[in-house]
Order: sequence, then C-alpha cells, then structure tokens
Amino acid sequence: MRWGRAMHKEDKTMKTQLLKVSEESIALGGRLIREGELVGFPTETVYGLGANALDADAVTRIFEAKGRPQDNPLITHVSCVEEIPALVRAIPDAARKLMDAFWPGPMTLILPKADCIPRAVSAGLDTVGIRLPSDANARALIAAAGRPIAAPSANRSGRPSPTTAQHVLEDMDGRIPLILDGGPCQVGVESSVIDATGEVPVILRPGGITPEMVERVLGHVRVDEHVMSPLKEGDIARSPGMKYKHYAPKAKTVIFSGAPENVVAAICARYDEQTAKGERVAILGLDEHNYGGRTFISLGSEKRPQEAAARLFAALRELDERGDTVALCEAVDTSGIGLAVMNRMGRAAAFDIETV
Ligand code: TXA
Ligand code: MG
Repeated sequence: MRWGRAMHKEDKTMKTQLLKVSEESIALGGRLIREGELVGFPTETVYGLGANALDADAVTRIFEAKGRPQDNPLITHVSCVEEIPALVRAIPDAARKLMDAFWPGPMTLILPKADCIPRAVSAGLDTVGIRLPSDANARALIAAAGRPIAAPSANRSGRPSPTTAQHVLEDMDGRIPLILDGGPCQVGVESSVIDATGEVPVILRPGGITPEMVERVLGHVRVDEHVMSPLKEGDIARSPGMKYKHYAPKAKTVIFSGAPENVVAAICARYDEQTAKGERVAILGLDEHNYGGRTFISLGSEKRPQEAAARLFAALRELDERGDTVALCEAVDTSGIGLAVMNRMGRAAAFDIETV
C-alpha cells in the first residue's frame, strides 16, 4: 500500500497508525522510510518526524506535514559512526573529540556537507547537522531503513516539541502513516546543536550535552549570543531555527527571574491581578515553592534540574489544553541542562523576562 502520495499541504486524510515499538513495528517503519514516507519515532531528546535523508521528495513532505519554513535545515540521524564519512566532506579534530565523548547521545554536530545530502535537508547551506542518537529504538529504525533519517522534532511548526507519542498524534494525526510509541523521552529538550566547522566549536542550541561538558573535553567552549536573547533586525542567525517563534503556547507567557522569595511574591501578585481581570492564569514552577493553591504546573524539584527539562514541553502543551491565557514561569538556574531549559522557556515567552 502507498500512503499519501497525493496529499496536499492541508489535507488530513491519511490514516495514522500508532504502534508500540517492537521488532515488527520498527521493520514497518523502516520500510515506510525506504518508500519515501514519514514516520514519527522516539529519541532520547524529543520525538522526531523522520524521512529518508537522501530522498529530496520525502524530505519535502516533512516541511509540508510540519508547516515548516523552507529555509530551516533538518538534522540527519545515523545509526553508527561508520555511516558519517559518506555524508560529510571533513571531520575537524575538535568535532572528532566531541563525537568520541558524547555519541551516541543528545548532540548534533554541524559539519561541511557532502553532495549526496539534498538541498531540501540543508536548506541551501553548505553544511549538514549530523546526530547519532543514544535511544536504541531510534537507532534500530535507522538501521531498519538502511538509510540516514532526516528528522526535525515531530511537532507542527511553532508548537512545543513532542516528548510522548500522544503529543505527536495531537500534531500529526492524519498527516503521516505511522507513529512509533517508545514511551516518554528521557531528556525532554532537543539535542545540543554545535557548529563544528571552525577551529572553535560554537553551541548554537543548548541541550543535553551542556557547555560545562563540552568545556571539559575541549578545554574551552563558546555559546552563541542568541541562545539567551532574541535576534534583532540585521542580526545574522548562525542557525536558521533561531529566527522563528518557537514552542509558544497560546497563553501570554512571562518569566520571573531573581531570588526565589521575590519570584514567588511577584508571581502571586501578578496571578491575582490577572485573575481579577478575567484571565485564566497558570504558574510553571519548582515543587519547593508554595503558591498557596493557585493553579500550578510542576517543573519538578530544584534538586533535580533534569526534571524541568523532561517536563517543560508537556507543561507548555498543558497550558493550551487547559485554555490558559496567561502563563507565569519561574526562571531556573542556567548551569548545566538549565541553559537548555531557559533557552526553550525564553523562546516560548519571546524572551519576556522580568527581573524581580
Ligand atoms: O534532539 C533533536 O535534535 C531532535 C530529534 C528529533 O533528533 N531534532 C530536532 O530537529 O530538534 P529540529 O529540526 O526541530 O531542530 C534542528 C535545529 C534547528 O534550529 C535548525 O535551524 C538547526 O538545528 N540546524 C540544522 N541544520 C543546521 C545547519 N546545517 N546549520 C545550522 N543550524 C542547523
Ligand atoms: Mg523543532
């Protein structure tokens, strides 16, 4: 059976199967990828929307299903390092060190691309993002396909990234033939994107591989200035993804930063003021803080920063489900994985951060 050949951008007529990962479902996924179709699949970071990375038509379908701007390139996923030399022109020393230290794992390296990578994947750039995921099911799917898999996060463009198969279904039902359900993602924020084309690698998007971890391996680290600030007019985005509004819930989202007691007091005051105006308000914060019965969505414990990473996207989706119109968020500490959490939260709030 051929699915979706004639599918138009806004048609949602395809039947979407949601299958638990198993030998059979992964084999089916591999076959669909080979036939040029799209498959939603788990990784350790977020769910991906995969297609054969070497098939320009299949890759074009990803952009249609997501509603993604054409100039935002895709990451190419491999199942083992041996697959990489065919996809890139060079692997600089620093990149090699990062590969040895952090792969398989939540890191994407930007490298000079080989000619076999279609323009649709690289969005016209001379580089390609390569990622070797640690999730065994993700690697099994790539191996079953027998081809590298180009995959963005499996959300509709602008929505929070999916960290469960159910989130993928919410966004992709009727648009893709298959979603593989491997349970909730472990890391919960997307991979660290590191530009490794130059002598000094630069973190373009923070993620599970933190600046501290990179520094331990290379002795130094650079983080792009736009990780914690919006692009201004005239600024050049080293990573096209920086340009776009991302992860945004429908609620007006504001972040409060400062000493915890100030943050809690400021959030309570704003909550009461907005509620009195008829807004539907929710607080995103850490379990240690007491909001006296006001609507609260937990980002976990301050003692375990990885919980905020694992929960943030689900929390942003919950705001939409509940119909909240205002979201008040506690800033988290930006060390370690906290930088990735603040980057995503910052973008959800269009970097509306109040220091209190
Ligand atoms: O964890 C992840 O990376 C997930 C899973 C599915 O692997 N994928 C993911 O893909 O987050 P996506 O498309 O949602 O985000 C890819 C980011 C975008 O911001 C894009 O602009 C950037 O990586 N990117 C991709 N190729 C690039 C390149 N050649 N140069 C600079 N930035 C690139
Ligand atoms: Mg994405």
